[in-house]
Amino acid sequence: MTAGRVWFVTGASRGLGRAFTEAALGVGDRVVGLARDVEPLAGLAGDRLLALPVDVTDRDAVFAAVEVAVEQFGRLDIVVNNAGTLHMGMIEEFGEAEARAQMETDFFGALWVSQAVLPRLREQGSGHLVQVSSIGGLGGHPMTGMYSASKFALEGMSEALAMEAAHDLAFDLSRRRMATCEAWEAAEHAVPQPPGS
Ligand SMILES: NC(=O)c1ccc[n+]([C@@H]2O[C@H](COP(=O)([O-])OP(=O)(O)OC[C@H]3O[C@@H](n4cnc5c(N)ncnc54)[C@H](OP(=O)(O)O)[C@@H]3O)[C@@H](O)[C@H]2O)c1
Repeated sequence: MTAGRVWFVTGASRGLGRAFTEAALGVGDRVVGLARDVEPLAGLAGDRLLALPVDVTDRDAVFAAVEVAVEQFGRLDIVVNNAGTLHMGMIEEFGEAEARAQMETDFFGALWVSQAVLPRLREQGSGHLVQVSSIGGLGGHPMTGMYSASKFALEGMSEALAMEAAHDLAFDLSRRRMATCEAWEAAEHAVPQPPGS
C-alpha cells in the first residue's frame, strides 16, 4: 500500500468520476470509488482501489461506506461529490418519482456524503470536499429545469456549509465560483443564434 493521498469519489464507475479515479490511481494515490454498479471498475482493481457498491441516496449506506473507507485506508484527503443524474423534461410534465429521483441523487446524495465525511476531515485537520455542480447550477434552461433545481440546491447548501465550517475548515468557494462563472460566460457565447443573425 502506498503512502499517497486517499480519494473518496462518488460516481466513480464512468464519466467524470472515473476520470478522477484513474487520474488519482495514475499518480499513486488510493481511491475509494462508489457507484451502484461497481462492475465497470473491475479492470482497475488493485490494492489502491476500494470499489464500494453504494447508492448515495441511501444515507445509512453512505455513512457505512465512509467508515469502511477509513478502516481500510486510514484517512480521507479528497472527497469528490460527483455522482449525478440528468432527468430531462419540461417542468410541467415531470412526474413525482422522476422529480424526486433528480433531487435524491444530485442534492441529497451530496448532502449525505458531506455530512458523513466532515467530522473525519475536521478530526484530521485537513482535507478537501469537492462539490461537482454544473452550469445548470447557475441558471435554468428548458428541459433541464429539475437538474438545475438539484444543482441550485447543491450550490446553496455548499455555500452555507462553507460559512458554517469556516472557523475550523478552509473552503475556497471563490475559485469554484470564478470557474463556474467563466464556464457560464463561455456557454452564453455558445448559445445558437437565430438563422441569418
Ligand atoms: N457530463 C457533463 O457534461 C456534465 C456537465 C456539468 C456537470 N456534470 C456533473 O458531473 C457529474 C458527473 O457527470 P457525468 O456526466 O460524468 O455522469 P455519468 O457519466 O452519467 O456517470 C454518473 C456516475 O454516477 C453514478 N451514480 C448515479 N447515480 C448514483 C447513485 N444514486 N448512487 C451512486 N452512484 C450513482 C453512476 O454509476 P451507477 O449508475 O452505477 O450508480 C456513474 O458512475 C454529475 O454530478 C453531473 O451533474 C456533468
